[in-house]
Amino acid sequence: MMFDQLKFTKRAYFPTLIFQIDLPNPEAFNAELLSTIYAQRDRDQRGIERSNITALGGWHSNTDLHKMPEFDQITRLVLAAGERVSADQGFDEKYKIKIGTMWSIINPPGSANRAHIHPGCLLSGVYYIQAPAGAGCIEFIDPRTAHLMNQPKYQSASKRAKETWSKVKLDPTPGRLIIFPSWLYHAVDTNSSVEVGDKAHRVIISFNLNQVKA
Ligand SMILES: [Fe+2]
Repeated sequence: MMFDQLKFTKRAYFPTLIFQIDLPNPEAFNAELLSTIYAQRDRDQRGIERSNITALGGWHSNTDLHKMPEFDQITRLVLAAGERVSADQGFDEKYKIKIGTMWSIINPPGSANRAHIHPGCLLSGVYYIQAPAGAGCIEFIDPRTAHLMNQPKYQSASKRAKETWSKVKLDPTPGRLIIFPSWLYHAVDTNSSVEVGDKAHRVIISFNLNQVKA
């Protein structure tokens, strides 16, 4: 019997799903959102203290931007994205996707975020408004305990299949929205932009979603 000729089946039962939505021609949308965020920063100087990178001049808004009328457009985009995920995943239609918290972060050069998760939430995500070259990728880390165990030796990094990766980095493309399970560890690389002034800032909207009975 030729054992190397047998039918071979591969099943992926526990994949980690990261969803992406791209806004077409996001320039005007982002420019308006950016000025709304800077206006909010100018009103809310306490946001500098909320930042974990105070020394560098980072700013962290309050976490209820979804309740403010000036953030209505991005709120609608986030909810629409959450509903797309809900439909794709076959979530119960008797439940609506609701924003629990939504905030903005301005990260100047030198700032980064250590790996973390968002406890008490279903889905989390980010929308990129401004990300100059070198602004820092988001990195997702394999949530399975497999990465603590013996690792296979691969022929080469380029031959290694995506499904075997233990981490993945995604570029912060302006106009792109990413949603992922809140339990998925993620970190943000250091912003190493060489732009001058506000143009060097990495500016994002971040959010947490939950399912709420409609
Ligand atoms: Fe996060």
